Amino acid sequence: KVHKHITNLSNLDNVTLTFHSITNEADIYLELSRGAADLVGAEQAGYMVLEGDEFVHTFPATGLDLDATSRIRFPREQILNLYDTSHRRAYVNNEDISASPMADVDRTLKVRNLALVWVRSKGQITGAIRLANKRSGGFAAEDIQPLAILANNVSVALDNARLYTDLRRQMQQIKDAQEQLIQAAKLVAIGELSSNVAHELNNPLTTVLGYIDLMMEEKEEHGDLLQDLNTMKLECLRAKQIIRQLLEFARKRPLERKTMDIRNTLINVIELASIQTRGTNIEIKTDFEGDMMISGDENQLKQVFINIISNAFHAMGNHGILDISTKTSEDGTRITFKDNGPGIKENDIKRLFEPFFSTKDEKGTGIGLSVSYKIIREHNGSIEVESTPGKGATFTVVLPKS
Ligand SMILES: Nc1ncnc2c1ncn2[C@@H]1O[C@H](COP(=O)(O)OP(=O)(O)O)[C@@H](O)[C@H]1O
Ligand SMILES: [Mg+2]
Repeated sequence: KVHKHITNLSNLDNVTLTFHSITNEADIYLELSRGAADLVGAEQAGYMVLEGDEFVHTFPATGLDLDATSRIRFPREQILNLYDTSHRRAYVNNEDISASPMADVDRTLKVRNLALVWVRSKGQITGAIRLANKRSGGFAAEDIQPLAILANNVSVALDNARLYTDLRRQMQQIKDAQEQLIQAAKLVAIGELSSNVAHELNNPLTTVLGYIDLMMEEKEEHGDLLQDLNTMKLECLRAKQIIRQLLEFARKRPLERKTMDIRNTLINVIELASIQTRGTNIEIKTDFEGDMMISGDENQLKQVFINIISNAFHAMGNHGILDISTKTSEDGTRITFKDNGPGIKENDIKRLFEPFFSTKDEKGTGIGLSVSYKIIREHNGSIEVESTPGKGATFTVVLPKS
């Protein structure tokens, strides 16, 4: 008898030790049910937890599948009543299962004998270890004792696991917030830097352009250079265009909000943008849901939509389909731009809204999406991208109702 006692204690020690190194709830349920079943030699073992108005059985469990555990579900009052009538000691029924208040469920689970060992946390009952069908005889006092110790350990282990999950979630939130802050700070710093650089560059460029114009006028002397001069002029104009975009990016202009119909704006922008698709096999499909009034700065929103649409055209090249659709919900208006171009590499997605991030070599500036991001943020909206490389990209802009 002493030998058996010692074996029991060491088994118990093994189970409880394992508990305290587990950080997720499901693993605790698994260890608990196995440990409890082994400890007393029962066919069914698992953990019931108080969830709102009900005690429900958790999964995984021993000797019970998902279907069986989901049938074990009792009103809170019924179990609390059992707790009181057993004078807060374990509920044990070795004789007459049909007399138990849980008989209906137990019958379907072929229960012959049953024990519920209460789990408390801060003096309140929070759950119970449920055991059924002890292989030899019925549940005895010596079975219940180690289970009660197990029950005490469970509630601590579960509290720890929940704290751990909570902690992990909070760490993630802090990390996300930090990343957003860095992104915002970067935008400001780069904005200031670029406006300085842009102004500095503008003057020498204007001078160069002036000389080019002069030389082009002096056809007698520079006739054989005309073609080269023209190329120089076009390149200078392109540089000026980039500077203009930079200044636009850096400009701190307050929103000029008015009530506007997003659908009209989109129709307008699509008409404008489709000039770029002449001579290609690019098709634009639209699916607009009614009229959508929002409060926004129409000019700035137009800029956002043109950026997104031009990027899609560029990505698709000579043929493809751009689906533009809108949907209104509680949160506001959701505008989706879905193309079937080459998509975006996972590594690039993270940097997409960064100023000057571009994969287009000298054809791109990397300003479009960072400006769009800024504008949408000022509207208290959000802009997101999703892409499966090889299958296209989807940009979603959400604008709040007002
Ligand atoms: N629809 C799209 N499909 C694939 N890549 C895209 C798409 N839209 C944007 N991108 C990527 O995002 C980058 C940044 O875009 P943007 O800020 O507009 O700068 P730019 O167009 O000048 O390169 C692009 O260089 C491109 O790699
Ligand atoms: Mg662009």
